[in-house]
Amino acid sequence: MNARVTSILGTKYPLIQGGMAWVADAYLASAVSNGGGLGLIAAGSMNGELLRKEIQLARTLTDKPFGVNIMLMNPCTPELAQVVIEEKVAVVTTGAGSPGKYVEGWKAAGIKVIPVIASTGLARRMESLGVDAVVAEGCEAGGHIGEITTMALIPQVVDCISIPVIAAGGIADGRGIAAVSMLGASGIQVGTRFLTSTECTIHVNYKNLVIKSRDIDSRVTGRSGGHPVRCIKNALVMDLLALEKKGATFEEMETIMVGSLRKAVKNGDMKEGSFMAGQIAGLVSEIQPAQVIIEEMFAEYEEIIKNGGSI
Ligand SMILES: Cc1cc2nc3c(=O)[nH]c(=O)nc-3n(C[C@H](O)[C@H](O)[C@H](O)COP(=O)(O)O)c2cc1C
Repeated sequence: MNARVTSILGTKYPLIQGGMAWVADAYLASAVSNGGGLGLIAAGSMNGELLRKEIQLARTLTDKPFGVNIMLMNPCTPELAQVVIEEKVAVVTTGAGSPGKYVEGWKAAGIKVIPVIASTGLARRMESLGVDAVVAEGCEAGGHIGEITTMALIPQVVDCISIPVIAAGGIADGRGIAAVSMLGASGIQVGTRFLTSTECTIHVNYKNLVIKSRDIDSRVTGRSGGHPVRCIKNALVMDLLALEKKGATFEEMETIMVGSLRKAVKNGDMKEGSFMAGQIAGLVSEIQPAQVIIEEMFAEYEEIIKNGGSI
């Protein structure tokens, strides 16, 4: 991997911790930034006031750069977009669509802008808006996903734009970094592995579920309504899949989904919680400090490269 991404992020490693609504708070973001990556505060569940407080808290926990992830479906997006300017956040990543009208204001404020995309079409549109890089996320990832795997998406995105491509989806060790670097990625974004970091404040049931999960334990709900979400299977997920099979509407599914991520994160509610995580959860086997996770991943990557591609 080259220095294009570290110079944009201002970090030691070309790594972003994925924005994860309800999960990625100031504690996780600052731990990742202190560990040499770029930590993100996820604003998906926040309004402007909450985000400002979280940014100010993160500043007391790290003197390294960190960023904010704005989920564009959040109705508070206009105020969140203003708060990141006022608080002089280093990097903004966006999820769920095009940040179009906000990009100019963020760039004018000196903020690096990195949208998350899941297709070449959106990658091209983002490049023409003047963003600094894109995160290309494959459907192995946890949370809201697209349709294309990391393996197929990354080389196609790399070929169609000239700004750096940061790969996400299914990366949890040095082999994953080596693989996406061979596909042309200049950096990585990691979500699922940080769920079990020591500093991640999610309920212990959530961490244990990720650790216990095997390769085949995630399911995608919401495909029929055009909003696919990957979670670890539990009673809620199986109910949603059964409803979907019966032809339930998006609204009917939403009624059950509302608040379910919060129930998983805050209460560890094994029945009604939505435990979002990626297919790579099967590889995640312990709770470790964020810095150890990052150093272990890149040490393994360096070793693979030194050995000419084998472990
Ligand atoms: C619990 C959870 C919540 C997520 N929430 C968001 C979000 O709010 N915004 C976003 O852009 N991506 C979100 N994602 C995606 C991550 O930022 C990241 O791209 C993804 O986890 C990478 O794939 P991996 O899970 O295989 O590491 C979420 C992922 C998880 C696991």
